[in-house]
Amino acid sequence: MHDRRLAVRAGELKPSAVRELLKHSKLPGVISLGGGIPAPELFDTEGLELAVQKVMSERFNDAFQYGLTEGYPPLRQAVSELCQARGVACQASHVYITSGSQQSLDIVARTLLDPGDAIVVERPTYLAALQVFQLAQANILSVDTDDHGMLVEQLAELLTTTTVKAVYLVPTFGNPGGKTLSDDRRRRLVELAKQHDFVIIEDDPYGEISFTDEVQRPLYQHAVELGCEDQVVYTSTFSKILAPGMRIGWIVMPDWLAQQTVIVKQAADLHTNMLSQVITAEYLSMNRLESQIALIREDYRKKCDALANALESRLGEHLEFSRPKGGMFLWARFRYPFDTMKWLEKTLENGVVYVPGEAFYNDNPDTRTLRLSYSTVSEEGLVTAVERLAKSL
Ligand SMILES: Cc1ncc(COP(=O)(O)O)c(C=O)c1O
Repeated sequence: MHDRRLAVRAGELKPSAVRELLKHSKLPGVISLGGGIPAPELFDTEGLELAVQKVMSERFNDAFQYGLTEGYPPLRQAVSELCQARGVACQASHVYITSGSQQSLDIVARTLLDPGDAIVVERPTYLAALQVFQLAQANILSVDTDDHGMLVEQLAELLTTTTVKAVYLVPTFGNPGGKTLSDDRRRRLVELAKQHDFVIIEDDPYGEISFTDEVQRPLYQHAVELGCEDQVVYTSTFSKILAPGMRIGWIVMPDWLAQQTVIVKQAADLHTNMLSQVITAEYLSMNRLESQIALIREDYRKKCDALANALESRLGEHLEFSRPKGGMFLWARFRYPFDTMKWLEKTLENGVVYVPGEAFYNDNPDTRTLRLSYSTVSEEGLVTAVERLAKSL
């Protein structure tokens, strides 16, 4: 029961299990597979320092003055070029800069959803998106996933009985599942959106962090081909490829939605932090991002391999998982009934933490599951972490 003095929508919110866990992960000697934060040693310190110097000497007034709610124009332009390279063919005028993808989800949800509106998410899904949709008092419905992402036929079934306003998903190297939606399912999902007139929220923080040369076509691109791009909202962020502390993300959205979303953002924070926007724009103009992403891909690929190999050899008879092809997360499941929430106390005693899978479910949590993040731990550290997990069984 929440405090009756609070608004229901706020009083019923639950703290994020991941954020609570991050506290434990700071204890000395604990190896954290819990976070989901980028490896700080990969930050492009030299490039960012150069960008900051340039901002201070040449763009001081832009950086320290109020700005436009839509975003800093040179940054909108640079982001539209980045989007085009990803297959999201948009003009700068359709790019809106936000204080990270988290804000993108929040302002889009506030603009789109009335209390009780149905929004479909993946089971499991990104935890903080659930918080956003709960705060919007939406009716959150889940559709199962397998190794190829959301079971789109299960969604089709649901659509025969339920009016759905929006579908939210992380189609490429998802959080927490690490799964990627197959191309046929992408096409089918967009066809369903067209047929049933719902909005797709395509959240893509990890698409660039691929361990192979396979290219994923964004849902946005399928929608352009089917002539319904005004039903897709594409969100992405610099958090995982540049620096999360800057809090710079963006939305590509159609005019009908953008007009009101911009006003909602205005009400929330007037505009995204100008200093961060101007630094990011300067950084992008130096053409260093591509090699930065290459570094991240190579580093995470090795770490992912180290974790997957150790899990296979030390815990293979207990855990099943499929190897991620990109991103920051490995999703595993015990082969027999198990409570990963309870197990955490034991593993913490042995100096290792992860996120129990149940945090990522809106309903019917699968207590056998856990999310392991490899991005911030060295290859040797990951082997030790798996030893500690094995010892905790
Ligand atoms: C799927 C997903 N969406 C959004 C976010 C939020 O990112 P940002 O730092 O841009 O707010 C994250 C961060 O972990 C994420 O995993």
